[in-house]
Amino acid sequence: MTGSLSIFLPDGDSPNTDSLNTLAATITSTASANLDVSVVVPTFREVENLTTLTEQLFAALHERSLTGELIVVDDNSCDGTIELCQRLAETYPIRLVVRTEERGLATAVIRGFSEASGTYVVVMDADLSHPPTAVPTLLETLQTNQADFVIGSRYVKGGTIDESWSIFRRINSRVAGFLATGLTSAKDPMAGFFAIRRSQLGDVTRLNPCGYKIGLETIVRCECKSVAEVPIHFEDRQFGESKLNLKEQWLYVRHLLRLYAFRYPEACRFMTFGAVGLSGMIVDLVTFSSLTPSLGLSAARAAAIWVAMTWNFELNRRVTFKTSAKSSIAAAYVRFCTACLTGAALSWGTFVGLTSLSESFRNQPVATAVVGTFAAAIVNYVLCRSWVFVTGKPQQLEAAPVAVTPDILTLDKEERPAQPPTRIAA
Ligand code: GDD
Ligand code: MN
Repeated sequence: MTGSLSIFLPDGDSPNTDSLNTLAATITSTASANLDVSVVVPTFREVENLTTLTEQLFAALHERSLTGELIVVDDNSCDGTIELCQRLAETYPIRLVVRTEERGLATAVIRGFSEASGTYVVVMDADLSHPPTAVPTLLETLQTNQADFVIGSRYVKGGTIDESWSIFRRINSRVAGFLATGLTSAKDPMAGFFAIRRSQLGDVTRLNPCGYKIGLETIVRCECKSVAEVPIHFEDRQFGESKLNLKEQWLYVRHLLRLYAFRYPEACRFMTFGAVGLSGMIVDLVTFSSLTPSLGLSAARAAAIWVAMTWNFELNRRVTFKTSAKSSIAAAYVRFCTACLTGAALSWGTFVGLTSLSESFRNQPVATAVVGTFAAAIVNYVLCRSWVFVTGKPQQLEAAPVAVTPDILTLDKEERPAQPPTRIAA
């Protein structure tokens, strides 16, 4: 198997290193037709691992008569990755994308997706944690199980993890996986080793990860209905360091919220509406207690209800029912107040109705009031949804998709942390 190195460098006019500059002149095209698989590998300082990975990967593909290309997406490691890829490309079909403006595992993988030309796309780490020998098995499973997505999994029968994993890392990994149960039934949704049909990826600009869980992002956004898992042994890296740090935990929580909002927009909107309502209750109580000394009980109560209602209107307008519709805010405010009055009347009516109906409701006034409040919340929500905030569009809790833009050759402004980050990967 031979190939030529195709280095994707931007057309920028200010190359950041001599080496990039020299190599930019040697770009060759390797647009290969009818490839079975494009293997996307994000790298940052993986020069010690790339040779073994490449050799093992192409040996595994060759054994099953599969044709493939390796797409290395490197974030300007400056560790000799470019020169190494150039040497390896004398023997293997490798394409190298060097990104200098953007950084991060997930966006690197998306960039790799957009470069891929194979029928199938596999994503794996460079550090040999994911066994290259398993790649053909992942592809076979895609075909034979008619799955949309296949994971190289640590947590199905036969799958194992490196013995050196601390109890903290094990628990962390399991909890992170558990939090994703509403999004996928996969046992190892955190995995960075997976295969998918390129046609299933569709338009990759709709992928919008925050953090590094690109597999989970792909399952959800590419609407992979059937996810299969192939057991693998996850070996800890021998060379180099993990690049993932504690910040990723927080990013993962934000990522999950986005994905749940994407998958269950209506439930999310209702929960946001509920949260706004609760915050309004706090505003109501704080305003009431602070105004009572100056206004007296009755006037303070009225003022507090009005302040809380206005608070709820503003939050619902800006967050819950964020909309592109251009209707007058004043008119929406009047409609909102009307909806609140309707809700309040219903709440009161339910309470009076139930307590006059039966002795058991009269004995439980607080619980009965809660029933009324809940009924009012639902009616209020329906009115807001269909009348007050004429939305037309589902809630958008997230930022615009990450655009895969061409890189520009400039020196990176941010430095990588000098200290090895805490190892927390799930
Ligand atoms: N281009 C690019 N840019 N690649 C990166 C970056 C980056 O900023 N950060 C990490 N990578 C590459 C690494 O070079 C490696 O090939 C791969 O992404 C995984 O990074 P590691 O640093 O080895 O991550 P890990 O071992 O802690 O986590 C892995 O295992 C997890 C499961 O335990 C990853 O595969 C995760 O996706 C996976 O969830
Ligand atoms: Mn690793």
